[in-house]
Amino acid sequence: MNLATTTPDGTPRLRTVVLREVIPATRQIAFHTDRRSSKSSELEVNPRVALHFHDRRGALQIRMEGLAHASQDFDRVNAWRKLHPGSREQYAQELAPGSEISSPTDAIVRSEATDRGGFENFTVVAVQIDLIDWLSLAQSGHRRAAFRMSDGIPHCLWLAP
Ligand SMILES: Cc1cc2nc3c(=O)[nH]c(=O)nc-3n(C[C@H](O)[C@H](O)[C@H](O)COP(=O)(O)O)c2cc1C
Repeated sequence: MNLATTTPDGTPRLRTVVLREVIPATRQIAFHTDRRSSKSSELEVNPRVALHFHDRRGALQIRMEGLAHASQDFDRVNAWRKLHPGSREQYAQELAPGSEISSPTDAIVRSEATDRGGFENFTVVAVQIDLIDWLSLAQSGHRRAAFRMSDGIPHCLWLAP
């Protein structure tokens, strides 16, 4: 999925992150990231985010908005244990993501990927969704719907596409 944040001066920032877990009952979606990354600092200043999904075969676009937070509902230790060792190693790199380097291979430093190396940099970010904008394209007619939570009450509306 694509995650949009804003920098403190209001510049929009987009990047791909892997959707890791969903808790439908509490409307939470989780992804993993490095606490040293730019997106982590951006979320500290402004936790409002947008998410974007596109299913090309299904001609479907889903956009979501919500509030990012460190949720206790997702088990960080368990998520870390389930990660592929190669992914764990990324979090153990000495250089923070986005650090300037003089050659592209400078950042490929194999760390001693012990069981806990990198764990301190590993974060599970939960997004509490309060808006879903669903768009389905079809020859028979496009359809669009909005699902909005407002004061704990769900509102479901059809929209002109
Ligand atoms: C297919 C793909 C999956 C990715 N998944 C993640 C992810 O789950 N978490 C993450 O922090 N970065 C992920 N990245 C890297 C981000 O897109 C981004 O380049 C990096 O996190 C730095 O972003 P930032 O400087 O905005 O913090 C992924 C990139 C690609 C291409």
